[in-house]
Amino acid sequence: MQLLQLSLLTSSLISLTNAVGPAKNCGLINKMKCPQGLNPCCSQFGECGAGAFCLGGCDPRYSATQDSCMPAPISRGGSWPFSSRAQITDAHEYLGDASKADWVMMEGGEMTVDDKSSVTLKMGKEKAQTGTVFSSASYIWYGKVKASIKSSRGAGVVTGFMLFGNTRDEIDFEWTGNDLGKVQTNFYFQGVENHTNFFHYPTPEKPNPAYKPFNTFSEWHEYEIDWTPDSIKWKMNGVLIREKKKADTMQSDGLYHYPQTPCRVQFSIWPGGAANAPTGQRDWAGGNIDWVNHPDIKEMGYYYTSIKDVSITPYEPPKGTKIDGKKSYIWMNPAKNWTQEEVVMSDASSILASPISNGQPSSKVWSLVSEEDLKGIETLPGLVGTGRIVLGGSKGKDGVISAYSGAARVVVARLAVVAAVFAVFI
Ligand SMILES: *[C@@H]1O[C@H](CO)[C@@H](O)[C@H](O)[C@H]1NC(C)=O
Ligand SMILES: *[C@@H]1O[C@H](CO)[C@@H](O)[C@H](O)[C@H]1NC(C)=O
Repeated sequence: MQLLQLSLLTSSLISLTNAVGPAKNCGLINKMKCPQGLNPCCSQFGECGAGAFCLGGCDPRYSATQDSCMPAPISRGGSWPFSSRAQITDAHEYLGDASKADWVMMEGGEMTVDDKSSVTLKMGKEKAQTGTVFSSASYIWYGKVKASIKSSRGAGVVTGFMLFGNTRDEIDFEWTGNDLGKVQTNFYFQGVENHTNFFHYPTPEKPNPAYKPFNTFSEWHEYEIDWTPDSIKWKMNGVLIREKKKADTMQSDGLYHYPQTPCRVQFSIWPGGAANAPTGQRDWAGGNIDWVNHPDIKEMGYYYTSIKDVSITPYEPPKGTKIDGKKSYIWMNPAKNWTQEEVVMSDASSILASPISNGQPSSKVWSLVSEEDLKGIETLPGLVGTGRIVLGGSKGKDGVISAYSGAARVVVARLAVVAAVFAVFI
C-alpha cells in the first residue's frame, strides 16, 4: 500500500513542470488575498504559492492568513567579498535556514562569480521580461548596509540595491542605464508609490559641495544605506547625498509613511523599459530596451551589473519592542497597521518543513493534499507571473548558477521525494 502510494505520487509529480500555469495574482495592485488551501502565500511578485513563496517576500497582508508566511530570520550581519559561491544558495535549494545560507539567488535569475571578487547579475535577451534578483536570506530591522557596485547600462535597463520588507517597506538606490552620471534614491511605506519620495543625485536645486562627476557603470562606487528608527541616510563613497527623517513622514492616516519593518538586502537588474511596461515606468527607465544593437548585447549577449564587498551591520531593535526570542521576526497577531510597533522578536523557526509547506503546522497542510492538488502547487516564485519584476528563464551555461527549466526539474524531483516520504508517514 505504501509503495503503491509512493509510486503514484512520484509519477503524477513528473508532470508538474508542465502543470506550472499562470499563478493566482495577489497583492497590493488588485488587493486580492491568496485563498486558503495549498497556495496560501502571496510572494514578492504578487503570485500565490507554497514553499519558497512563504519565505522571503511573503506578504502577510495578502496571504491567506497572517501565519501562512514563515517567520523572518534575523540577520547576524557580516561582510561578504563575494569571492566564491560558498555563501550563495539557489532559491530551489533554500528552505529558510538562514544559518546555512547568507544569500539566495531568486528563481530564473542568472549570475556568475568573477575573478573571485564580485558577482555579476545578468539580464539576457532570451526573455525580454527577464530580471535577476539576488537577496540576503535574513532580515535586518534597522542597520547599515554598504556595497560596492557597478551599475548596468543601456536605456530601459535598471539596477537596484535595496532594503525590501515583506509588507513592501522599501529603501532604494536605483540606476537607470540611460544616465550613468546619476544615482536615484527612493523609499516606500507598504509599497505605496509617492513621487515626492524620489530623489536624484546630483540635483541642480540642491548642489552638494562634495559632488564630483562619476560614471556608475565603468567605476566601482560604494553605496550605503544607514537606516535607523529615526532617519534614513543614503551615502555614496562616504558622502551623505540624502537624509530622510521619520518625523517628516507623518500623514493624515496617523501613520508614519516611513520604512519601519524588517527588510532583506536585495540587488537586482530588471527591465524597466520592457515592451509591455507601463509608459511612465518605461520613460523613467530611459525608454525601450535595445535587445539587438547595444554593445553589451553584441559583446556579451546580456546586460549586467556587478557587486562586491557587501557589509551588513544590524542595529538593536527599537525601544519598546516585544522580545520573546532572537531567531526571527514575526508580527503581533493579529497585526493591524503593519508598523514598527507590531513587530515581535521570537524564537519561532523560519524553516519550512518541505518545499510545498507553508507557515501553518504541517499537519494542516498535509491533510489537504490529494494527488490532483499536488499538480497545482506553485513552489518557486518568479517562475511564472507578473509584477514589477518579472523573472524568467535563461539558458543554462557553465558557471551559471541557475536556470529556469533546470530549477523546475530539480524541484519536481524534490517534491516527489518529499511527497513520497509524507505518503509513508500518514
Ligand atoms: C506623498 O508624500 C507627501 C509628503 O509626505 C504627502 O504630503 C502626500 O500626501 C503623499 N501622497 C500620497 C499619495 O500618499
Ligand atoms: C493603528 O494606527 C492607528 C492610527 O492610524 C492607531 O490609532 C492604532 O492604535 C494603531 N493600531 C495598532 C494596533 O497599533
